Amino acid sequence: MAVTLTVNGQRRTVAAAPETPLLYILRNDFELNAAKFGCGMAQCGACTVLIDGKAVRSCVTPAMTVVDAKITTLEGLGSASHPHPLQKAFIDEQAAQCGYCIAGMLISAKALLDERPRPTDAEIRQALVGNLCRCGTHNRIVRAIQRAAKEMSP
Ligand code: FES
Ligand code: FES
Repeated sequence: MAVTLTVNGQRRTVAAAPETPLLYILRNDFELNAAKFGCGMAQCGACTVLIDGKAVRSCVTPAMTVVDAKITTLEGLGSASHPHPLQKAFIDEQAAQCGYCIAGMLISAKALLDERPRPTDAEIRQALVGNLCRCGTHNRIVRAIQRAAKEMSP
């Protein structure tokens, strides 16, 4: 059946079974590959995207349930030439090693800063508790989010 989604401000229609996870459509049909498949069971956060401003695991979100929602992936936050302050801060703090978790981290951080522009370190850690990083760059990630928070609301 046809599924129409609004992703990064664009409405696009694809043919998909109703239970198809949003992540599969984002990656396979829309070629938006920032969100990653990690566990497929809502356990790692690599697939996190914003749905109406909330950080959501797209691997367990049937696309049909978000046809009326505003979906934002990392590609919708910024670009290499115009990075979002969070993206710039992650680069400045060298917060990525392999980078596999980073899109999910950035999306969760965006949802947090939209709600709490100047979070404490503890609030950042709590907001990102569901985003796993096997490389162990957690301290740099917290520093990067604090850096972006400062820049965005001095
Ligand atoms: S791939 Fe979705 S939470 Fe791990
Ligand atoms: S930077 Fe490698 S998993 Fe986080």
